[in-house]
Amino acid sequence: MPEEIYSPGLEGVIAGETAISTVSGGLSYRGYSIENLARYGTFEEVAYLLLYGELPNAEQLDEFRKRLDAASQVPPAIIEAIRHFPPTALPMDVLRSGASMLAHWDPEIGDNSHEANIRKAERLLAQLPIVMAAHHRLKQGKEPVAPEAGRSLAANCLNMLFRADPSPGHEKAMDVSLILYAEHEYNASTFTARVVVSTLADLHSGIVAAIGALKGPLHGGANEKVMDVLGAVGKKENAEKWIRDALARKQKIMGFGHRVYKDGDPRAVYLKELCNELAKETGNEGLEVTADVIQRVIWEEKKLPPNLDWPSGRLYHYMNLPVELYTPLFVLSRTAGWAAHIIEQLDNNRLIRPRARYIGSEPRAWKPLAKR
Ligand SMILES: CC(C)(COP(=O)(O)OP(=O)(O)OC[C@H]1O[C@@H](n2cnc3c(N)ncnc32)[C@H](O)[C@@H]1OP(=O)(O)O)[C@@H](O)C(=O)NCCC(=O)NCCS
Repeated sequence: MPEEIYSPGLEGVIAGETAISTVSGGLSYRGYSIENLARYGTFEEVAYLLLYGELPNAEQLDEFRKRLDAASQVPPAIIEAIRHFPPTALPMDVLRSGASMLAHWDPEIGDNSHEANIRKAERLLAQLPIVMAAHHRLKQGKEPVAPEAGRSLAANCLNMLFRADPSPGHEKAMDVSLILYAEHEYNASTFTARVVVSTLADLHSGIVAAIGALKGPLHGGANEKVMDVLGAVGKKENAEKWIRDALARKQKIMGFGHRVYKDGDPRAVYLKELCNELAKETGNEGLEVTADVIQRVIWEEKKLPPNLDWPSGRLYHYMNLPVELYTPLFVLSRTAGWAAHIIEQLDNNRLIRPRARYIGSEPRAWKPLAKR
């Protein structure tokens, strides 16, 4: 038996090897810095990079886009089922159920090979936005809008939600947010997906479990909670007092802190630039001032930098996206990263089965029911 090592929350523990991304020395996907991918790439190029290991050339990208277009349909029975979901159903839960339902219709559900899993991942990338947008519209008594071939995934998402062509600025903002959310090493949801498929379960099961893990406010759910913080602050003049009081009460401020990035989240830096631009375009400069005051005080008081959710929550707000869709949008993007990890895990699998330190009672004698 190796020496017992225990780290609560697995903090600092190397739990596996990956060639997909690293957070060491700034975030990079397959060796490309996140700054370059976000500034010069598109989500489709990044999804291809994550799944296939290399950036696509023009022909490969064109073929990839065509495959996504061809896969952009959801069985009518699933849309029908969503129609009957209770009005209280949350979009994150609908996506979790949607991913699970899509498994029933996937033609390769029983094939866990590398190639089949890439094809399944491509289908899910194309199908999950349709599930999210259809539920959003049906909930408002509107009929779903079909995706259009030839559009980017970012533009299709916005068009399927609002039935309107997004402005170039909004399409770009959505695309960049999808790139930044696509992959992040051994975070909670990715690790969940790897644990699930390490039992040789299928890709859809891994994605369903990962969506469940992403929902919590300490992980993906934080981008929705950011708007609660900004809503609670109210006017920008209140920001300094509000945040100092909140920190004195030891309130956790969503969108700040990170298990790994202690000096700053590189994803937040670039998104903040886009956030500023969009705030100007939409007359929301006041909210940026509030956000800056909060950021400054949390750094002064706690030395905590913002994470990606801090600007992304605002960015989505400036795009008029409903708050309950912020974390589902994260799902659409992270599906690329989760799938890459699932495929990597299965390519070189070892069942993930750690041990626990036992802190229960000493051995006890069995007591018959009548004597308890
Ligand atoms: C992400 C997070 C879970 C990382 O947590 P962690 O590595 O376990 O760090 P800890 O919770 O141990 O925090 C260390 C200290 O900073 C404080 N802290 C961490 N995040 C904080 C936050 N967002 N607001 C206020 N204080 C915070 C903790 O209270 C703790 O203070 P203490 O030493 O006085 O008790 C945590 O920072 C958090 O809850 N952030 C808010 C949720 C969020 O934005 N999640 C998205 C992550 S991308």
